[in-house]
Amino acid sequence: MPDSRNSDLKSYLRKFTSPTISKRSTKLVIGSFGGEKVPMFINEFWTAEQRKASSIHEISYRACFKPQLPKFFIDLFTKNGDIVYDPFSGRGTTAIEAGLCGCKVIANDSNPLSKLMTEPRFTPPTISAVEKRLNDISRDGPPSELDLSMFYHPKTEREIVAIRNYIAKKRQKGEVDYLDRWIAMVATNRLTGHSSGFLSVYTLPPNQAVSQQSQMRINMRRNQVPEYRDTHNLIIRKTKSLIRTLTASQVRQLKRASKQAQFLTTDSRYTPEIVTESVQLTVTSPPFLDIVQYQDDNWLRCWFNNLDSNAISKRITMAKSVEEWTRVIRDVFYEIYRLTKKGGWLAFEVGEVRKGTVRLEEEVVPLGLDAGFTCEAIMINSQEFTKTSHIWGVDNMGCGTNTNRIVIFRKEK
Ligand SMILES: C[S@@+](CC[C@H](N)C(=O)[O-])C[C@H]1O[C@@H](n2cnc3c(N)ncnc32)[C@H](O)[C@@H]1O
Repeated sequence: MPDSRNSDLKSYLRKFTSPTISKRSTKLVIGSFGGEKVPMFINEFWTAEQRKASSIHEISYRACFKPQLPKFFIDLFTKNGDIVYDPFSGRGTTAIEAGLCGCKVIANDSNPLSKLMTEPRFTPPTISAVEKRLNDISRDGPPSELDLSMFYHPKTEREIVAIRNYIAKKRQKGEVDYLDRWIAMVATNRLTGHSSGFLSVYTLPPNQAVSQQSQMRINMRRNQVPEYRDTHNLIIRKTKSLIRTLTASQVRQLKRASKQAQFLTTDSRYTPEIVTESVQLTVTSPPFLDIVQYQDDNWLRCWFNNLDSNAISKRITMAKSVEEWTRVIRDVFYEIYRLTKKGGWLAFEVGEVRKGTVRLEEEVVPLGLDAGFTCEAIMINSQEFTKTSHIWGVDNMGCGTNTNRIVIFRKEK
């Protein structure tokens, strides 16, 4: 990567080749967005294989992006100690990657589960410390007040409730420490899933907890009955897996970042906690259109953490039309503009919407310009280069797979 301060983004992207990723040259197309000409660069700028991401990211979350995406922009636009922000932080991919790269971190998400899943990974514990803490937690909790028999063996259920009660009690007393937060995070992520590494019988993927009724149907169809799963062992197993690639210096970097990190759980349209003109780089992907009902996804995770999933779902933007979506994002852009340093950057990922029939970048470019940014480029990271670049000339992006489209804005110096 070039020295971020001296690099000229456009020529960097134009000349981009990498022996390990793309040997092709970048395709350049000039797009017109509301009268504004914007260069669009198409290439395979990063891949999942290019540089294996850290194991500490391996938490499932709906619509998360790969760590290689924020890493690309962090390398390009920041230096050590700069602040990196994600207003729609999700599982915290940008935040964790920024922490690993020696940046300061601000993460916001109106869903408090996001903070619960991100913050503990800045202070990864040792296995023996987790084992010791689990030994303090009784395995013999009461049965749950909800009927969870379609998910868990009765003994597993009592163990889950015991952990839940232990952490709730410590939260009440204000005594929760990094180990409790870690255990809560791992347990939350192990609640349901489709392998023996999860606490439940086979369900849909872990970020899509099904309802009690539909789980009963799954059990019937698969002729399955929940078997006992040892919660403490599975928490240890996932802990080992999450920290397996972390080096001692990465652990130090994350811990250092945790001391000054801000984890907010507010609406990203209004974040007065963030200092004006403090952020060097924002990398984010917004809530997209047509996302499936939040409550169906997260009710069990909310139950485990004593959160009201009804109240949370009201705080999450679930726009049904492009107009509605645009109204929210317009305000978010004004807020990001306020907190961005002069000369700072915003990399805004727009996803595949309605199989490529809606091109959100067409909406996003004017919104960024309105807020005061300049639009420097649109990057299309595509693993199906030929197809995608061909399609870009004429048609839509409907056939692209593993394609990210990122609109890059800058606040002028
Ligand atoms: C596409 S996901 C982000 C995923 C993230 N890039 C990752 O890698 O995990 C969008 C996130 O926006 C959050 N969100 C939705 N509406 C919001 C709002 N108005 N303010 C803040 N966060 C919001 C959702 O809770 C969700 O976590």
